[in-house]
This record gives sequence, structure tokens and C-alpha cells, in this order.
Amino acid sequence: MDFKNLLFDVEKNIALVKINRQEKLNALNDETLNELNICFNHIKNDKNIFVVIITGAGEKAFVAGADISEINKLNIISAKEFSEKGQAIFNLIENLGKPVIAAVNGFALGGGCELALACHIRFSSDRAKFGQPEVNLGIIPGYGGTQRLTRLIGSGRAAELILTGDLIDAEEAYRIGLVNKIFSPEELISQSKLFAEKIASKGQAAVGFALKSIVSCDELSEDEGQNLESSLFALCCGTDDFKEGTSAFLEKRKPNFKNL
Ligand code: COA
Repeated sequence: MDFKNLLFDVEKNIALVKINRQEKLNALNDETLNELNICFNHIKNDKNIFVVIITGAGEKAFVAGADISEINKLNIISAKEFSEKGQAIFNLIENLGKPVIAAVNGFALGGGCELALACHIRFSSDRAKFGQPEVNLGIIPGYGGTQRLTRLIGSGRAAELILTGDLIDAEEAYRIGLVNKIFSPEELISQSKLFAEKIASKGQAAVGFALKSIVSCDELSEDEGQNLESSLFALCCGTDDFKEGTSAFLEKRKPNFKNL
């Protein structure tokens, strides 16, 4: 697939999506959001893609935020639409049904941090910087950040970041649970690919069901969540991969999953 502001490649069932607007530090303008929407809808429907890695082109930025030149023109009506559009695309990513890994290679600010938050796993270069600096512009995060950041790191730490607009480095992001692992810039993509390959080697029905149960956790009560879990557990036991996985263990061999 060809895009103006994205690079897209699929290898060994793993899609690599690179936001490529380097002259603006990969800031998300409307055109880039539209391309992300098309790209992730394609990924959702492509049965040969099991895992996704999203990163920023160049060495400096993952995504330096929504495009401030477009934000500057918003009014009270268009701002609501602007926020809801970004939220919908990030919801698409979170509810993709396939694991999405953010490989944060540089600045992840504002909408960039929110994009990383909509992914299921975050790996960071040791040079990355994270923050929600919207308050410096007289606005608040509008692409889900007040909700996802708070759920991920707790209200006290989320308030600290969102109310000050301060940037934090990768070490601090790791310490507060915002990122899963830190790698050198040279290793970030190769390690993300190795991790993605590990997930891609499992039975994909189980991966998808597990992800659905994890993602639903925030919206459900404990009872509802456990009910969903037992239903998805039962669905796993209707797959060929469940027979293969359990039989392989008992026969002391490696499973050969067919994703059926
Ligand atoms: N929207 C639009 N353009 C952006 C942008 C954004 N979020 N972030 C960076 N850019 C543009 C700059 O305007 C500049 O464009 P220009 O060369 O045409 O003037 C270019 O990207 C390079 O950025 P610059 O600010 O010169 O780089 P820097 O190394 O001095 O600073 C940052 C890097 C990330 C600290 C700084 O760009 C910044 O603070 N960006 C905005 C972050 C933000 O508030 N994000 C939340 C938006 S809601």
C-alpha cells in the first residue's frame, strides 16, 4: 500500500507502520490521520498480518503530537469533531484484534504519547521523551490521553504529567509503567520484531481472544470480565490449535499451530 505520510511493509506476518513526516517531527495532521485509518482498517482485515509494530521515521521523533497548525484553526464545533476523529482512529488501533507494539524512537508528545497509549505494548529507545504538553497550548489531551494515561499509570502520575506538560525520559517512563522495555536506538526495531515474531508463532485465535479479554478489562466489572474470559476460554477449546497445543505438550513435541 502506498501512502504520502506512512511507510508500510509486511514481513513474516508482521506489519511495520512508520509515520513519515520527518520535517514536522511526524506530527499527526489530518491527512496522516486519514492514512492511519485506511492502513489500520487494511491490517484488521488482512488475515496474513498477525502483529503490528508502529514507529516514527527518522531518529528524532515517534510523533511530536497532533499538528499544531491545524489545532490553531479549530473552533468549538470543529474541535469536538477533531478530538472524536482522533479518538476513533486510536480506538480502532486498540480494538484491532491483533497486538500492536509501539516502538517509540524519539519524541512521543501529545497525540504521539496518546498513540503509544492506544497500542498494547510500548517499547522505547533510550533517547525517547514522553509527555502530554497540551496545557502549554491552552488545551488538554483530546485523543484519549486523559483516560488511557490515567488507567495505565494512575491518576496522581497522570495529573503530574498532564497538568505540568513536563517531558520525561525513557527511564522515568519505564519506572512509572508507561513503557514495557527500553532498548538502544539501534536495537529498538530489531528487538520489537523479535518480540512480534514470538507472538506470531503462537496460535492466533488464542492471541486474539487473550487480547480481547485484556482490552475489555477497563470497561467491565470483575464479574462481567470473568464471564467474558470464561466464554473466550471456551471458544479457544473449539479451535484445532487447542487440540494441537495440548496434544503437542503431552507428546513432548513442539506445537504446529495452523491458526484454525
Ligand atoms: N505540530 C506541528 N508542527 C510541529 C509539531 C507539532 N506538534 N512539532 C514539531 N513541529 C514542527 C516545528 O514547527 C518545526 O517546523 P518548521 O521547521 O517548519 O518550523 C519542525 O517540526 C521541527 O520542530 P522544532 O520545534 O524546530 O524542533 P526542536 O528540536 O527545536 O523541538 C520539540 C522539538 C518536540 C520539543 C518541539 O518541536 C515541540 O515542542 N513540538 C510540539 C510538541 C507539542 O506540543 N505537542 C502536542 C501537540 S497537541
